Amino acid sequence: MNKESRGNFSSKIGVVLATAGSAVGLGNVWRFPYMAGQNGGAAFILIYIGFVFLLGIPGMVCEFIVGRNAHTNAARSYAKLGGKTPFAWAGIIGLFAGMCILGFYSVVAGWCLHYFYASLTGGLKGDTTAVAEYFQNFSSSAVTPAVLAVLFVLLTHFVVAKGVKSGIEKASKLLMPLLFIFLIVIIIASCSLPGAGEGIKFLFHPDFSKIDRTVLLAALGQAFFSLSLGAACLCTYASYFDKGVNLLQSASQIALVDTLIAILAGLMIFPAAFSVGVSPDSGPSLIFITLPNVFNQAFGSMPIVGYIVSVMFYALLVLAALTSTISMHEIGTAFFHEELNISRGNAAWITTAICSAIGVLCALSVGNGSLSLFGKSILDFLDFLTAQILMPLVAMLTCLLVGWYVPKDIVWREYTNRGTLRGTLFAIFYFCARVVCPLCILMIFLDQLKLI
Ligand code: PHE
Repeated sequence: MNKESRGNFSSKIGVVLATAGSAVGLGNVWRFPYMAGQNGGAAFILIYIGFVFLLGIPGMVCEFIVGRNAHTNAARSYAKLGGKTPFAWAGIIGLFAGMCILGFYSVVAGWCLHYFYASLTGGLKGDTTAVAEYFQNFSSSAVTPAVLAVLFVLLTHFVVAKGVKSGIEKASKLLMPLLFIFLIVIIIASCSLPGAGEGIKFLFHPDFSKIDRTVLLAALGQAFFSLSLGAACLCTYASYFDKGVNLLQSASQIALVDTLIAILAGLMIFPAAFSVGVSPDSGPSLIFITLPNVFNQAFGSMPIVGYIVSVMFYALLVLAALTSTISMHEIGTAFFHEELNISRGNAAWITTAICSAIGVLCALSVGNGSLSLFGKSILDFLDFLTAQILMPLVAMLTCLLVGWYVPKDIVWREYTNRGTLRGTLFAIFYFCARVVCPLCILMIFLDQLKLI
């Protein structure tokens, strides 16, 4: 595969929007609010922001350096830079993680698709118990969630198969601003509800007594998942960056957009939840069980507003999920395209087939005890395996690779775009890559093994 036949993002704004599109997803709109809700609100958010800047940005720059320098798919990029060391395996592990994430993420994205339809047709009405039962029955039913998961992978397929410039970049340029507009409209509706002030206070008044080791580690894990760090995805996208892209600046902009959207998602959810007396720590079911209640109750006197807001909310989730699944799909597509020397279209079909199969298994495992691994449904198991083990592992290997193994002058050349940039903050970045990031990630592992 020669270099010229690979696509590239055509503009700097395309680079930032596509990569931010990968970062911004269900992790921001669904996972961040419930994690913040369970871990004390504002104090968690402050720590999260600290981790994004201290670990997330250097980690992203490291993945960018690997991808842009090697200019090929993730597996080969790590093999090229890592030689015969274990670092060479990070690409394959990341690729595996990315495809597993696409499998289970499509199931949740499929639920969003269904909820979008249900809110559109008025199916989410009823009291609290009815709404909860609706979710239980739907998510554990045999056919619809599996079909929707495959549908979501197919939707992603058609964007990715169109290529980097006319598929991924174009879709991101349209979807990202749309997502932002939807968010703002819902925030206005949510914040104007009676009693919304409590929710805003919860988000912005830190109570530092709430910070303990669990909160610290929860914030760290959330930062990784949300930035798409350690799934070979940033590395794959960086292989489409041209030589003029300022890696530190792009990573900072993406981290900023990602954090901003997460906080806006909090501003969308908490004021409404507090307004109807819903507990902020209701966990993963927040958007599927709690929020329909919020929409029904909060806008009880103005049902049409509740209707519009709920339809917009689930449309927003679908859009956010799509820009992320596109990036996961691209990891596999680029790999099969270049390694098997087949067309992009066929490579995309292989990725679609594998991820659809994983998605179907995940969908069927919800509410079905016989399809479980280590006591968890396949969906929960893959979520755990990727977010808690594989992503931190790959991110750690990436930082160690760039910090200790790749010659410093190559790192410097990538960081400064062959000496054309001043190399702002290089010393800090390099120290984070060599010491701070690997050490912090090691801490997560030790904690998971209950060793600290
Ligand atoms: N960052 C995405 C989100 O917040 C999830 C993701 C993980 C995307 C890994 C790509 C790779 O939803």
